[in-house]
Order: sequence, then C-alpha cells, then structure tokens
Amino acid sequence: MKALGLAGARTRRLFTRQTLFIALAICIIWALGVQFGGNVSERWAELGNQTPDFKEQPKRMPTHNVLPPLAERVACYGPRGRLLGESPDDDLQTSEINGPYPTPWTGNYEETGLDLTVMNVDRRYGPYGYGEEREDYNRSRVDWNQVDWGQLQNDCFERNRHRFPASATRFDDTRVTPPRFALRHVAKVPEVRHWHEFQPTRRTAVVVRAWRGFEYLPEDMYYLRSLVAETALKTGGEYQVILLVDMKDYEGYENDIFASEEAYKKGMEDAGVPPEFQSITLLWTNRLLDSWYPRVEEHLTIWQVFQPMQLLALHYPEFDHFWQVELDMRFMGDAGKFLDSLSAAARREPRKQSLERSSFLHMIAETGDYGEFFRVVNESNKGGSHAWGPMRVREILPIGPEPPVADPRDDNFEWGVGEDADALLTAFCQNANTPNTWIFRDWIYGLRTGVRTPRFYCPPAIQRGSRALLLAIHQAQLDLGIRIPSEATLPSFALWHGLKLSFPQHPVFHRDNDDVENRRGWWRGGPLASSTGLGPDNNDHPRGFGLSFWWESNWAKHVFNEWYGRKLSDKEPRPWIIKEWDGKLWLPNMILHPVKHIKKK
Ligand SMILES: *[C@@H]1O[C@H](CO)[C@@H](O)[C@H](O)[C@H]1NC(C)=O
Ligand SMILES: *[C@@H]1O[C@H](CO)[C@@H](O)[C@H](O)[C@H]1NC(C)=O
Repeated sequence: MKALGLAGARTRRLFTRQTLFIALAICIIWALGVQFGGNVSERWAELGNQTPDFKEQPKRMPTHNVLPPLAERVACYGPRGRLLGESPDDDLQTSEINGPYPTPWTGNYEETGLDLTVMNVDRRYGPYGYGEEREDYNRSRVDWNQVDWGQLQNDCFERNRHRFPASATRFDDTRVTPPRFALRHVAKVPEVRHWHEFQPTRRTAVVVRAWRGFEYLPEDMYYLRSLVAETALKTGGEYQVILLVDMKDYEGYENDIFASEEAYKKGMEDAGVPPEFQSITLLWTNRLLDSWYPRVEEHLTIWQVFQPMQLLALHYPEFDHFWQVELDMRFMGDAGKFLDSLSAAARREPRKQSLERSSFLHMIAETGDYGEFFRVVNESNKGGSHAWGPMRVREILPIGPEPPVADPRDDNFEWGVGEDADALLTAFCQNANTPNTWIFRDWIYGLRTGVRTPRFYCPPAIQRGSRALLLAIHQAQLDLGIRIPSEATLPSFALWHGLKLSFPQHPVFHRDNDDVENRRGWWRGGPLASSTGLGPDNNDHPRGFGLSFWWESNWAKHVFNEWYGRKLSDKEPRPWIIKEWDGKLWLPNMILHPVKHIKKK
C-alpha cells in the first residue's frame, strides 16, 4: 500500500506553492504513466513500455461537472389507469412510527435522507396485488396480464420528455424492435465508445438481473411491479426498469438467440418472463459475452457480473447510470425514493476522503451522528486523501478529471460536491492489499502489477455504475483482457480512472443488536484506530449472518418472511426489528438482502 501513501504529503514535498508551474510539473511526473495527449503515448512506446492498443486516446473529464436540477416531475399513469399520487389504490400509505424510530446498527437516516416511515405488508404490496385473492381486498383488482410495464414507462417518459435533454429516448419493446445486442462480428455499434461521445440524458436504468428458468412467484411479481411503479413511474421517467435475462447457455441451452429474429423470439418464450414484463426484457448469452470479451476467459457471474451491464451501456448508451439490482432483495419503503436518496447523498458527498469514508462503517452507537463520523475520518487522514485524481495503474489511461488543487489538504471538501457518483456502492469497501481473507484475492489478470495493483472490493455487486465507467471497463476488457472479481470491478476501475466513488451508508440492522462484542468486531476501533486512515488495520471482522443487508446474511430472509406472514423456522424468534401494533407487523424503511422467494409447499 506504499503507492497509496497520502497524495497530499507526497505533493507537498515536491512543491511549495500553487502556481501554473505546479500544474506543469505534475503533467511531467504523471506523463510517465498517465495519458494527456497523443504524444505522451508515443513517448511511452519509446520508453519500451507496452502501450495499451487503445483505438483512440481517451479524453479527461472536466474538473467540475455539476448538472442543473430537472424541471418538476409530471405525474404518470399507473397500472390502474389512474395518475399516481392521486390513486389511493396504487399509492403507498406509509406511517410514522409510534415511538422512537429504531437506530440503525450501521448507516443512518439523516445523511442518506431516507424517510422515517414504516409499512406493513398490505400497505407495501397491496397496490401490486398482494391479498387480491382475498374477499377483503379493498383495492380495485388489476388484470395483470393486460398490464405492459414497458408501455407504462414509455408513456410516462413521453409525458415528461420536455424535462430531459434531447439525447434521452424511450426504451423500445424488443419484441417489436429487434434488440440492439449482437455478437461482436456483426455489431452495429462501434466496438469502443467513449464518455465524451454522449450528452447527459439524466436517465438511469434500473437493471434487474434475471435468468432463464427463474420461477416468478407472487412475491417476485409484487417486488418487480413495485420497482417499476416506484422508480420509473413515480419519478416522471427518471428511471427505466429493464429485465436483463441470462439465458444460461453455459448450462446446455442450444438456441443461439442472436442467430436470427426467430431464434431470439424462441429465446423470449424459453426465458419464462411473465407477459407484463416482456417488453422490458433483454436476453443475453454466454456466447455474446465470449464474442466481445475473448481475452477475459471467464464470464461467470461470480467473477464477471458486470459484463452484461458493460454491453448494455455500449448498446443502450441513452442512460447516464445503470443500477444493478437483484431479484433477491426487497425495498421495505418506496423503492424510487430509496434509490433517489442514495443518488442524492452520493451527489452531495465530496470526493475528498469518499474512499476513506467508504472503508469504515458509520456506527451510531460507536461514533455518534454522521457529522462526527465524517470528522474522525478526516482526523485519521490528517485532512489528506488516498485517492486524489486517478490511482495510477500502468495499463489504464484515466478518463477522470484532474483535481482542482494538487494537494487534497487544500480542498475544503468542495470538490465533487453536486456531482453524480460514477460508482455508487451499497456496502463498505475493503482494501485487497492489506492482509485479509478475501477468497478472490489472487484473481487478477491483465495487469503487470498483478496482486500488487491497488484494488478495493465492496460486496455485494448491487451497485450503480455510470455509462462513462462501464464503457471504460468495457474497453479495458475488450482491448487488454483486464479482469478482477465482480465485487471489485466498479470501485477499482473508478479509482484507477479517478472517477467519483461513493458509499451512502444506508441503514442496516443486526439480529444481535445488543451484542457489543460483535459490534466492536466490525468497528475495529473505527477511523481513529487506523494507522492509515484507509480502513481498519485488520480486515477481519465477524461473519455477517445477522445483518439485514449483507451478502452472507441469513437474517434478512427471516425478517422479510415473518413480516410477510410466514415463519421459516420455529427456532428463530420474531426479529426484534418487526413491531406489532393494530394486529399488524411493521418494518422500517430499509433494504433487505438476500431474500430469496419461498415456494409454497
Ligand atoms: C382499506 O381498508 C383499510 C381499513 O379500513 C383502510 O385503512 C385503507 O385506507 C383502505 N385501503 C384503500 C386502498 O382504500
Ligand atoms: C480536516 O483535518 C484537517 C487536518 O487535521 C483540519 O485542518 C481540518 O479543519 C479538518 N476539516 C474538517 C472539516 O474537519
């Protein structure tokens, strides 16, 4: 980690004053590995280095990139043919809690700006069909097979089109307009595209990772409907939900769906997507990934979950950001407000120390409110920052901006404020280069520095990547075969490129809320006990089985199912986070993961 020593300390030693001179000097120093123009890469070649065979040299982004707010949202029609916001049958009824709101084990409601509301299952999923088979269902019933969530989203976008730049477009029904995905040798899109070829569209794709053979049970349907209604329809089209379906041809599915329109049609039938979601479905195959990324020999989800997303950004660049969400997660509050809050919190966050803040958990019981957390991270970093501009990796020609000042200590947490994050994470990040037990630690290819390359992993891969970031990863994989595991991909590439990274610390609860020893095991002394200011010195922490959001949790499913009205195990007491009143069970506003659907016996 020596290479990551405080950027501030290093530059302070080299320069004393902030003049144009400094900028020039930095150019010369960085020119050893950083691309500013065509002749630098020539110089590189002369030095005998292996120059990446990029087709075109990337441009750097401007230092400041704050976009204006969008005009006021125009209401859209929901599945009952009524305007959302004026339709009690469609709208969520949230309640304020009777008594103090539970304090998150990690994360917070203040900085993330999430509503302090609770819902029971009728209120949460009633609008989407939960309980519709019962006599006392007091909402109008919907013939869901007649609902077309793609059409609803496009209608909503049209009603709001004036709010978006001209570069924003609707998402065509792939059953009518052939999908743009194509094998590389017949691709209609350029093989490589750069961030500067695109204008902001101000739209975000919410990409649900699905697969052939997935059985869509009622609870999955409620979840998916709520996702479309709340993210896309209630925001006036700022989001577009897409179902990205893995055809699992690596498990013996023979139909080459990209061979012909008929083959793709057949693929749609085989995919098993319910009619109401078919118009927002895009299919992909391992064959597609292999045609684009032969140099990355591995395409399995566990290693390369973002490859389909990279190709989505390449073929459907009309989105500024791409959220990857999973079928086994649940938003206990309004999903659109949740994603909006995370996005806004990331936008508010300064670049300085955003990596450092992401490398510690904000635990209210240990450090107090978020302001105090922010303060101690700064204290532990002595006002500096480990990531200030691109984190140099030889093979990567960075696209991120140059810092406004050479020394991060001269920036009063202003740089990056108001700018969207390129990598938005939902869990804390760990440094792969401090001693740890990360099982994917040695899985890195295509980089000469190998395991010494700076890398951060932030599982789960429920993350949002910008078009710019995904296109840059695409190019690195296509041209150089660079690969690191899924959960490290977005954060590490963002850092190498000097793009903005943010982990808004959303509220997470723990089964053993009062187990101080366990909590301290995760806290590890916090920022003030860290010798570097970049994560705890010791990466070991207790297992996360009891967390409400964590890749290995088994508590999340108990929380969800008990609230949903079924018990998974008689041994498991009712999770304390569930409150009962009025004979109903209520949960606070949070995301649960993983929660896999339960088949009725
Ligand atoms: C259904 O009935 C409950 C209980 O009477 C009431 O609180 C709720 O507002 C009703 N829901 C709708 C959508 O009208
Ligand atoms: C951050 O730390 C530096 C160095 O200790 C200090 O001068 C500065 O005031 C701190 N800034 C904030 C906002 O806490």
